[in-house]
Amino acid sequence: MSLKNNLSGRIALVTAAAGAGIGQATARLLAESGADVVVTDLDPGRTERVAGQIAEATGRRVIGRPLNVVDEDAIAALVAEIHAEWGAIDILVNNAGTSEPAPVWDTPTDSWRRVIDICLTGHFLTMKAVLPRMMERRAGSIVNIASIEAWSSTTPGNTAYHAAKAGVLALTRSTAKQVAPHGVRVNGVAPGLVPNPFLNRMLDPEDLERHASLIPLGRPVDPEEIADAVLFLAGDGSTSITGETINVSGGAYMRA
Ligand SMILES: NC(=O)c1ccc[n+]([C@@H]2O[C@H](COP(=O)([O-])OP(=O)(O)OC[C@H]3O[C@@H](n4cnc5c(N)ncnc54)[C@H](O)[C@@H]3O)[C@@H](O)[C@H]2O)c1
Repeated sequence: MSLKNNLSGRIALVTAAAGAGIGQATARLLAESGADVVVTDLDPGRTERVAGQIAEATGRRVIGRPLNVVDEDAIAALVAEIHAEWGAIDILVNNAGTSEPAPVWDTPTDSWRRVIDICLTGHFLTMKAVLPRMMERRAGSIVNIASIEAWSSTTPGNTAYHAAKAGVLALTRSTAKQVAPHGVRVNGVAPGLVPNPFLNRMLDPEDLERHASLIPLGRPVDPEEIADAVLFLAGDGSTSITGETINVSGGAYMRA
C-alpha cells in the first residue's frame, strides 16, 4: 500500500454499501487501506452481514448500520452516534443511487421526486450532517458518486437520474468551494458501465456486450476500479484536488 493511500486512524462512512456493487467494493477497499468503516444501507440484516464480512477479512473496526439516505433524522442520529463512539468522521462516501427509467411524459411525479431524493438530496443531507464537525477539525474528505450520465444523458428515459447526477456535479463543486477554506475537500467519481445484478436483469447479455463494445477500453468497469478512484480522492494522494469529478468509464465518456 502506498503511504498516501494509508488510511490508518481514519474513520469512513459509506452509504449504500451492502449491495453487490460500488458501495461494498469501496467500503472493503477503505478498510483494507486501514480505515475503520461504518457500512450503511437500507436492509439492517444485509448491512450487518456485509460489515461483519469486511471486518473479518480486514481486521478493521467495521460496523453496519441501517440508513435510508433520505431520512434526515436518521442521518443526524447516526452521525451523532459515530462522533460519540469513534470521535470523528474523516471520510464520507455518498454512494446511494437509484433509477426508474420512463419517458418524461410518462414519469409519475413521485417517481421523479424519489430518484432526485435518493441520488441528489441524500448526498446533500449526509454532507450537511458531517460538515460542521469536519470544518471544526479542519479535516475531512467527501467523495460523491455521480455518473457519466450526468454529462452524456445517453440511457433512454432516465431523465430524473440524469438530472440528479448532473446535480451531484454542481453540488460537489459548490460545496467544495464553501468548505475549502475550512480544510475540507469534496470531490466526485463518475462511473461508466459497472455491471451489477440490477443491470444484469435490465439488460440481456447481448445488450451488455453491445454496450461494452462501445467502450474504448473494450470492457465494462469493475466496482473495485471505482473504489480505487474513491480511495485516491479520499486519501492523501489528492490533497490539492477539490471540486473535481473524475470519470472512471474505460473512456466511454471523455471530457474535452
Ligand atoms: N452500476 C453502474 O453502471 C453505475 C454507473 C454510474 C453510476 N453508478 C452509481 O454508482 C452508485 C452505486 O451503484 P451500484 O450499481 O454499484 O450499486 P451498489 O451496490 O453500490 O448500490 C446499491 C445499493 O443502494 C442501496 N440503496 C438504494 N436506495 C437507498 C437509499 N434510499 N438509502 C440507502 N441505500 C440505498 C440499495 O439497498 C443497494 O444495496 C449509485 O449512485 C449509482 O447511481 C452506477
